[in-house]
Order: sequence, then C-alpha cells, then structure tokens
Amino acid sequence: MEKIIIFDTTLRDGEQAPGASLTHQQKLEVAFQLEKLGVDIIEAGFPIASPGDFKAVTEISKAIKKSAVCGLARCLKLDIESASDAVKRAKHPRVHLFLATSKIHLQYKFKKAEDEILAIAQGAVKLTRRLCDDIEFSPEDATRSERGFLFKVIETAINEGAQTINIPDTVGYSYPQEIYSLIEDIKNNVPNINKAVIAIHCHDDLGLASANSISAVLAGARQIHCTINGIGERAGNASLEEVVMAIKTRKDIFGGFYMGINTKEIFRTSRLVSNLTNFVVPPNKAIVGRNAFAHESGIHQDAILKNRTTYEIMDPKDVGLAKSQLILGKHSGRHAFRDRLKSLGFHLNEEELNKAFKRFKEVADKKKDIFDDDLRIIVEDEIRVTKPLWRLYSFKVTSGTRIKPEAEVVLIKKAKNICGASSGDGPVDACFKAIDKITGYKAKLDDFRLEAVTSGKDALGQVSLKLKINNSVISGRGASTDIIEAAIKAYLDAVNKLEVK
Ligand code: KIV
Ligand code: ZN
Repeated sequence: MEKIIIFDTTLRDGEQAPGASLTHQQKLEVAFQLEKLGVDIIEAGFPIASPGDFKAVTEISKAIKKSAVCGLARCLKLDIESASDAVKRAKHPRVHLFLATSKIHLQYKFKKAEDEILAIAQGAVKLTRRLCDDIEFSPEDATRSERGFLFKVIETAINEGAQTINIPDTVGYSYPQEIYSLIEDIKNNVPNINKAVIAIHCHDDLGLASANSISAVLAGARQIHCTINGIGERAGNASLEEVVMAIKTRKDIFGGFYMGINTKEIFRTSRLVSNLTNFVVPPNKAIVGRNAFAHESGIHQDAILKNRTTYEIMDPKDVGLAKSQLILGKHSGRHAFRDRLKSLGFHLNEEELNKAFKRFKEVADKKKDIFDDDLRIIVEDEIRVTKPLWRLYSFKVTSGTRIKPEAEVVLIKKAKNICGASSGDGPVDACFKAIDKITGYKAKLDDFRLEAVTSGKDALGQVSLKLKINNSVISGRGASTDIIEAAIKAYLDAVNKLEVK
C-alpha cells in the first residue's frame, strides 16, 4: 500500500480567501483540530507576510507534535530566513518555496528571462537547504508553463535538495485529463524525479479542483494540497473532505492507497473552520453540507429505511455525523449534555463543561429543542481561546413604525461598565452606532448575514458580518435566540479581533 500525504493549507491558502482572516489564537485552535484530524502537514502561514502570521506559524510550530509544520516563502532571502525561523521549533519543520514559471508571470510579474528565473530557483533552494532539512518547491502557475522550462526548473530544484515538488494549478484552468498527462510528462521527462515526492495543488475556478487532484494521484502524485471546506484564494482550493472521502469511498480504484486521516473528525473540523472564518458551508456542499446526508423524497426515504446503501455511498458516521438525533432541551441534565458533546467529538475539561452547560441552560430556557448545530455554536462560543476586550452587559432598543429607532448599549471593558446611546436607521444600526460611540472606532458595515442555525420559530439566530475599520476588513460572528443580541455579539466579535490585531 502506498501513502497519500495530506498537506492542509487552510491556514495559508485558505486564510487568503477575502474576509477569512483569523487571529493567531484561532489559527492555533484550527491547527490542534487539524492534528486531531490526522493531516500529515499543516501549512501554517506565510511568515514574511505580517508579524501576526510569523507569530502564528511560530506558535503552531511549538505546539503541534505529530503533524509537520510548514511555512511559505517566495524565493527571496528575507522570506526564506523568516519561514525557516518560524518553523524551526516544529517537530518536523518544512519550508515551502514558490516561484512562477509561466510566460505570463515571467513577462508581466517579474519582467525576467527564463535563465534568470532558473538561477533564482537554484539559489533559493540552496540557501533554504542550509536553514531547513525539508524543502518543498512549487513552480507557481505550473499548468500554464512551457513544459521544457518547467521540467528544467523542477530538475534544478531537486538537484539542489528539494524533496517535494508541488504542481500548482494556480488559476484553476486545467481539467482532469490535462492534469493526468502533465504529471505523467513530469515523470517521463524530469530525470531525477524519482528522488522527490510529486504533490498537486489545485484551485477551484472551474469547480474542478478535487477532480483534478484525484486525477493527479492516478498519474503518480502522492501528496495532495487541500483546505477544509475548500476555502482559499478566489473560488478556493480542493476540499480536504472531498479528496479524502473520494479516495476512501472508491476502493475499487484507490484500493492500493492509504491516508493518515481520521475521517470521523471531518465534520467537526469543517464546522470549526466555518465558525471561525464566518464562511457558511452551503447546504448542498459535498460531504459536509447540511443536506449531504439528508433525504427528502418519499421514494428515497423508503428505500433508505430498507437499506441505507440504496441512496447513500458513504456512512455519515464515517465523517463524524451522529446518525440519530437526540433532542436536548431545558429538562436535560449535565450527564446527557456531556454525553452528547462527547459523541459530537468535544472533550471538555470540567471548567469548560460548566461554562458550556450554563450557556446551554440559558439557551434552552428560550428555545424548546437544542440541536447538534446549536450545541456546536454554544461550545465554540464558550471555549473560544480569545479573551474578548469588549463584552456585552446589556442593551435596550426602542423601535417601531413612525419613530426613529434608538438604542442604549452597556459594554464591559476590564470590569468597568460603559454606556453608549444612539439613534439609527433601524434597531441594529442604532446598536452599532452606540457601540462605536463607546469603542471610538468608525466602522463601516461591509456585509451582514442572518441565518437560523437550526429549524423552528425559536431557532438560534446566527449573524455573520464584515466590518471595514481603518482599511482592514474584519469578520465577526454571534449567535443568540434574540437576533439583535446576535448582531451585537457579531459586531463585538469583529471589534475584539481588531483589538487583538
Ligand atoms: O496557487 C498557488 O500557486 C499557490 C502557491 C503558493 C503554491 O498557492
Ligand atoms: Zn494556491
């Protein structure tokens, strides 16, 4: 059996998705979950990009014990030194170098000739070799590069010591057969290719990222770059859950391969990343969408009851979804609560459990049934690593027809209550303006979404929003049975993230 190495780039390419930025504590939280999921390599960030990214890569390197930790670098001395420095405390440090090789990039981005690019690649791998033992090299925009030149760059990178050669379909332009023949050509035309592992990195501009990644494996690639929920630049990257479950499910084709992924952690990882980035998972998303294992048609339901495999190619339990729904409500006790959380994959210590249980009771008082998605939000809200600077103490709104909405908000900062009042175009706008008066920020609302976490009139409402403050776009999320409170919490979540930054 041959291993398919799973290289997760949620914290690097995924975080490059517009509006997906995470604080270093949130990145650490995701990294711990990725390790639990069993990914082989965590690409933790682009250390030269910002002090925050450097800090995140450094902390993840210190904390993660099983997965390798990787930092991205352009083929520039400062980038290489910064990436090597950030990962040096990792148990398995890796530096990922990239340099574009396509004519378009050479002409417009670099204004450099092929031999200059070749020399830069050679020098960069050589320098990295002195600082880090494990080097991955990516000829960016490989799929649109002239083949002869691409082969030469790859051969040079391997000669200088790169052990993994990644083939990026940077702009998501290829289709599966093309990827297959490109990998085949690399194997047939790069003389030293046997000394390296071939990796694949596909973007989803045409919705083909996962299909292209799988095709690369069939042609000989043994490492896949992917992200949780497929988040990433523009249309995103190949989704981890899709490529992993495709390989696991189609044993007839991929029977000769194995992966180190504990697929039962997939659903939980998906929801954690979705909640922290505020990128809602579409209900019809393969594997992790709310409807991925839901059956609506009577014919399907009848057949499923007779035999699940009539309309299901995967067992929901294999991706961490509990099959039966145990409905929790205000009469439920701590035991049932703890049991349910355990079956959802949360292992809380006594203090965390107490906090989550208290919040559960508050919500259960206002909401009849508490579903799994409610529980996930409750737990993640209560055990989030970040200690917020601003917290909501109370609010009061007056709103209706023929009157100007007004709000009075009281926030707590360092044990002190601070009050602000304002009118606005609506009750939510009035609350946001009152908060701005307290915090002193001038925030512009860029995006505002409200959705019910679960079904029913008493559903927990979740607000996801994006604020533009001093040229930064910061996202925030908040949940409550009261949608104005949810909006205030989301607003404060974003403001608190800015404070951390
Ligand atoms: O898409 C891309 O080409 C990249 C590289 C940095 C590998 O993300
Ligand atoms: Zn990419």
